Amino acid sequence: MPKIMTSGLNLWYGPFHALKDVNSSFAEKKITAIIGPSGCGKSTLLRVFNRMNDLIEGVRVSGEVSIDGENIVNAGTDLVLLRKKVGMVFQRPNPFPLSIYENIVFGERIHGERIKRDELDASVEMSLKSVLLWDELKDRLNMPALRLSLEQKQRLCIARLIAVKPDVLLMDEPCSTLDPQATARVEELMRELKNSYTIIIVTHNMQQAARVSDDTGFMLLGELIEFGRTEDIFTAPAEKRTEDYITGRYG
Ligand SMILES: Nc1ncnc2c1ncn2[C@@H]1O[C@H](COP(=O)(O)OP(=O)(O)OP(=O)(O)O)[C@@H](O)[C@H]1O
Ligand SMILES: [Mg+2]
Repeated sequence: MPKIMTSGLNLWYGPFHALKDVNSSFAEKKITAIIGPSGCGKSTLLRVFNRMNDLIEGVRVSGEVSIDGENIVNAGTDLVLLRKKVGMVFQRPNPFPLSIYENIVFGERIHGERIKRDELDASVEMSLKSVLLWDELKDRLNMPALRLSLEQKQRLCIARLIAVKPDVLLMDEPCSTLDPQATARVEELMRELKNSYTIIIVTHNMQQAARVSDDTGFMLLGELIEFGRTEDIFTAPAEKRTEDYITGRYG
């Protein structure tokens, strides 16, 4: 069973129809890339999965979105639990103006009742290890996170999600502010993380999609035009519009 499925998903920003009858499925512990020109609805689709669009005035959603077989668009969904299970990393790394340590335990302090110091310490170590930052930072945990490099900040933002034990990691152009070397290292990290997490990445970088993802979806003007195994999408797309996009004919 896929980890996430959408069926007949539509979304409107006021009168604007931003997602049009999107039917998709995302495999567990795989990386799925969403590609497509600017404004086609990639970020909107990602935000459906943790109900972040709810924060935007005038948004209306119809259709079904299920995670682990449970429809998350209905009114009864516990949004705190959902956002713990489905974490999101953004284009610009956005650590809090707190220490490295406090950034990581922030979510646990919110979600947990009364967590003991040694449990928090263990969680900081586990989270930093899983993003390969522990050796680098273990002696500087009280340093302000804002002093880290961009790549370290982005890794820290991933560690901060991992600390609350999510299942799904949504990444919206997570490497777009990084240089090619840092990008390659974060891609390596993603391959490592997919052993434990279902990852959905939005990217403008088609080489990146081809390199890291197992499956790829191509969107255009709010529609999911084509969805399939990454190697098929990039070598033998079924749709002319997909081919035009990946060969650089538009956007
Ligand atoms: N808060 C909003 N209110 C109204 N319209 C919005 C809002 N957010 C996005 N849109 C519109 O919805 C469409 C899809 O936007 P979205 O940000 O999902 O696209 P995208 O594929 O992520 O683009 P980009 O590659 O530039 O990040 C665009 O036409 C955009 O202008
Ligand atoms: Mg976007």
